Amino acid sequence: MIFDHLKPQIKHIISEESKSVNDKLLAICALLEENIPHYNWVGFYFRNGDREELKLGPYVGAPTDHTIIPFGKGICGQVAVSNQNFVVPDVSAQDNYIACSITVKAEIVIPIFVNGENIGQIDIDSNITDPFTIEDERFLEFVCIQVASILT
Ligand code: SME
Repeated sequence: MIFDHLKPQIKHIISEESKSVNDKLLAICALLEENIPHYNWVGFYFRNGDREELKLGPYVGAPTDHTIIPFGKGICGQVAVSNQNFVVPDVSAQDNYIACSITVKAEIVIPIFVNGENIGQIDIDSNITDPFTIEDERFLEFVCIQVASILT
């Protein structure tokens, strides 16, 4: 199973002393995008200071204009306020959605909690319709817990 194979590699990246936090986040994005065929854009958004908005962090994939996303807007902005995983099998069926690329068919966003506070999220776009399962959610929750451990 690809996810079980990737978990030790995530832990290794997290533990690398020579890498900055941003380098680790970028390495995680690259690892996921390169190894999981249905992950076509992988990035992190974090709360922008005290503002009610998200700011784009490290990512791998096509450049996006959406470097700032207000809370409540799009899939990412909704997760910033709901504190819940958001799995979108078909983005065309969503009213509150911010399109980054016409190739994107599906999206998954998993929040990152530090001391119980939702401080950001991992966001993944797929060019395939309905590709995400509960296994993706469990794996990405693992990734978010690992990432939280270097953000405290
Ligand atoms: N589609 C997201 C915006 C971010 S891009 O996917 C990189 C949304 O609706 O929040």
